[in-house]
Amino acid sequence: MFDTISTQAAQLIHLTNEYKLNSKKSSKTKVIAITSGKGGVGKSTISANMAYLLALYGKKVLVFDADIGLANMQILFNVKPNASFYDYIERGLTLDEVILDTPYKNISLCAGKSGYQYGQNKSSFVYSRIIKDIVALDTYDVILLDTGAGLNEYVQEFLEVSDEIIAVTTTDPSALTDVYALIKMLSQTKEKLFLLFNQTPNYKIGETITKSLKDLATKNKLNKLFMVKYIGNISVDLNIATTGRLRKLFVKEFDSSASSFDLNNIVNSLVKEIS
Ligand SMILES: Nc1ncnc2c1ncn2[C@@H]1O[C@H](COP(=O)(O)OP(=O)(O)OP(=O)(O)O)[C@@H](O)[C@H]1O
Ligand SMILES: [Mg+2]
Repeated sequence: MFDTISTQAAQLIHLTNEYKLNSKKSSKTKVIAITSGKGGVGKSTISANMAYLLALYGKKVLVFDADIGLANMQILFNVKPNASFYDYIERGLTLDEVILDTPYKNISLCAGKSGYQYGQNKSSFVYSRIIKDIVALDTYDVILLDTGAGLNEYVQEFLEVSDEIIAVTTTDPSALTDVYALIKMLSQTKEKLFLLFNQTPNYKIGETITKSLKDLATKNKLNKLFMVKYIGNISVDLNIATTGRLRKLFVKEFDSSASSFDLNNIVNSLVKEIS
């Protein structure tokens, strides 16, 4: 009997691996999550502006508002969605109906739904399914997932289906404590994590803190194979908050500002990493 069970288990593992390989092979789409431990560190602002720069690099981008309960990506893109990903999951709308155009060339949006209740779909993996279905379309070069803050099971589910994860942090001690918790969690299941320091005056500061976080990971004997890669900093810029309020993108409106330059460097590194 044990033989039969282990044969079945081996077959299942084989099938799962084959499925993973096939789904990778059959789609060009890279899923990149923008996440953070602490809230309000700049994830959504960075996701929207990063989408714009990726599109300038010739990528076809879908921004997916994965902040369940506090959707705000439609505000940053100044669109009024008549459907959200929720309508695909719960009401049977098609992907075509829930993927919306934005005012920007080569950027589409799958909006979230404010007030959507976590409890309704508890542990049903509905979120990862919609991402896999969009990947299977093979239409987009990049899906940018703007997650909510924190490490709840919904965020974890989105991170699970992502090819790359960018953690946004500031130098604030509580943000650093939270990003370390994220490193600890992801080191058990993922291969690497990019660290992006927002509201950080220069490149060197982010680099130095990344080294301290890595030293702490080594001291605490986290998985040695897990890579934490520093991808750059964005300085504080009042124009970022202002353009956000005006529902515009700072990298477009202030394309020669220091912060646009910073984000451009980050996107440049990211494009090299994913191609
Ligand atoms: N580098 C920056 N300089 C100045 N203001 C910034 C910068 N980055 C983000 N902001 C501002 O900080 C505020 C929070 O940003 P944002 O909403 O993008 O954070 P978030 O991480 O997505 O938040 P949440 O966790 O609530 O989803 C916004 O008003 C935004 O304009
Ligand atoms: Mg946000």
